[in-house]
Amino acid sequence: MTLAHRPIGRGKVGFGRLLVFAIGGSATLPRYERRIGPIIAPQFRIPSSPADVDEGAALYATYCQRCHGVDAVSGGSVPDLRHREEATHHAFDAIVRGGERRTSGMPSFADNLTTDQVRCIHAYLLDRTRQTAERRRDTR
Ligand code: HEC
Repeated sequence: MTLAHRPIGRGKVGFGRLLVFAIGGSATLPRYERRIGPIIAPQFRIPSSPADVDEGAALYATYCQRCHGVDAVSGGSVPDLRHREEATHHAFDAIVRGGERRTSGMPSFADNLTTDQVRCIHAYLLDRTRQTAERRRDTR
């Protein structure tokens, strides 16, 4: 891994918060706010086949799952990849291979993945987003 692809410092995963405890302290923790809103079907489209989606699922499990969660369901400390702004879709390769967010703990995968493999992961994530959005509609 070259220096340019490493997160700055030791790297950081998620939006951490520091809790400091004092013996005899009486402060209460801030109220828990759930960050994840409803998942809606994406308007964004990329050219892909069912085989690409399968390939993307396998690559996701190898490279992304440990931080972004099993089946692309985030535990909440890193972004849920089924929740992405239009601009993030356009910047997908720049984030994943280009290391655009490495100062916030999202490493570059330029040494591990080709542009075509990143397209397959993107296709898999769009597919997961669609599946989740449809399932919610069914249960309503
Ligand atoms: C070491 C943990 C880690 C791994 C592994 C990881 N990510 Fe991330 N990722 C992060 C963090 C942390 C962020 C949030 C960065 C920020 O706050 O801007 C992030 C953000 C992102 C974003 C931007 C999301 C948004 O809505 O702004 C995308 C897209 C993304 N990751 C894709 C991937 C893909 C695809 C993989 C696998 C190839 C992957 N990540 C692997 C930690 C990781």
